[in-house]
Amino acid sequence: MDERRAIVDFFQKQGILIQPDAVEFLINSGGMETCKKIFGKLTEKPFIISLWDLQKLLERKEEKRGKERIKKRKFVILRDITGNSTCGGDVKDFVCLFKNRYERLSEMVKKRQEMRNAVPIKKALKVRDEVSIIGIVRDVRKVKNGTIIELEDYDDIIPVYVPSEIDSSLINDEVIGIVGKKTNELFIAKSVVRPEIPVRRQRNFSSEEKYVLFLSDIHVGSKNFLEKEWDRLIKWLNGKNGNERQKEVAKKIEYAIISGDLVEGIGIYPGQENDLEIVDVYEQYEKLAEKLSGMPEHIKLIIQPGNHDAVRPPLPQPSFEEEVKNIFSNLNAIFVGNPCYLEIDGVIILSYHGQSIQDFASNIPGLNQNNPTKIMREMLKRRHMAPSYGGISPLAPEREDYMIIDIIPDIFVTGHVHVTAVELYRDVLLLNASAWQRQTNYQKTMNLIPDPAKAIVVNLKNLMASIMQFS
Ligand SMILES: [Fe+2]
Repeated sequence: MDERRAIVDFFQKQGILIQPDAVEFLINSGGMETCKKIFGKLTEKPFIISLWDLQKLLERKEEKRGKERIKKRKFVILRDITGNSTCGGDVKDFVCLFKNRYERLSEMVKKRQEMRNAVPIKKALKVRDEVSIIGIVRDVRKVKNGTIIELEDYDDIIPVYVPSEIDSSLINDEVIGIVGKKTNELFIAKSVVRPEIPVRRQRNFSSEEKYVLFLSDIHVGSKNFLEKEWDRLIKWLNGKNGNERQKEVAKKIEYAIISGDLVEGIGIYPGQENDLEIVDVYEQYEKLAEKLSGMPEHIKLIIQPGNHDAVRPPLPQPSFEEEVKNIFSNLNAIFVGNPCYLEIDGVIILSYHGQSIQDFASNIPGLNQNNPTKIMREMLKRRHMAPSYGGISPLAPEREDYMIIDIIPDIFVTGHVHVTAVELYRDVLLLNASAWQRQTNYQKTMNLIPDPAKAIVVNLKNLMASIMQFS
């Protein structure tokens, strides 16, 4: 506790605010000594230091040395809302949330080449030259051959016309930069600049061959739970089915990440009671614990909630209350929130259930929930998992925006749409981790076509993914 205080004080004395997860990171990577080193590396004094800034500063040092990260940590939770919620449900808190989002994302946009000379909107309203501005998108209106948005920064708001050939994927509450020119009434966009992630980057790998199993959407308690297929998965994990190579892989699985919707829950969608085999949510978790107890002991379970689980619905979702956790007390399990950043042997994993995949699909032409990795790319471009307020996925008024993707993960995994998908985008491995439920009538009406009973395994030594099928 003292070290934490000392680190915060150290930066405060220099007039720098340090974010809580950055403090955690420093404690784990050398404490005060590293603080001093980092301070010495700052070319300018920032107002706020994030985990992302620290990692960048340390990476630079390591690149020079041509070495990998200083020390590979076995297992660390890098960021999680659990225990850190400040949510009071006040409208004021939403102001804080959006301010925090704007501050952090506009900093990222500013780093883009085209945005180096960005001016405040107030100034752009007065000049007729080409300028760059940065703001948060409000009120997206489709018009003939384009979109009209209101772009807002700290002091002003400007109506911007974005022709379709420039960009037709603008959504509410994302933070963007725009290069353009003011005409009589509108600012006409010449290009749209997003925070994005770099094309290339040094990926992190584990030093030894070890595997992570990615599972999601088990939906225990539903009549459509694929129990037979699940039991086959457990058999494989115990070395009792599969070919020699597959049995070898099973032995080397050290972690299983379950990205939400562990049980079917109750009262989640209209008419759900007809699909339930177990009507009590606690009994659903008991059955789940029984189904998970078949996993071999050498596999550590990382359990994350989703929209069907017994935690608050708005994002970010904290992990389960003790009452639910206790049901799993015999298992080798760690409970995390949704979303959650993890580091396993140096490899950074972002796990998010994926509720907002549907928001992206309904707001951006050409996107479809049956193709979730394409939507995950859009999240990375915006460096945000759920920008739009007031859509399908509710947001909680936290003072800090936990949906921001400021740390670039090596693996980004979602679930929710029951699809099995693997894709590499700009050196980030994108996964959608299948499901263990056959198509429900509700999904049929939502045009959701599942690809269930599959498991994705990733070797952390080379970040190669393979898919095992159990149907
Ligand atoms: Fe879900």
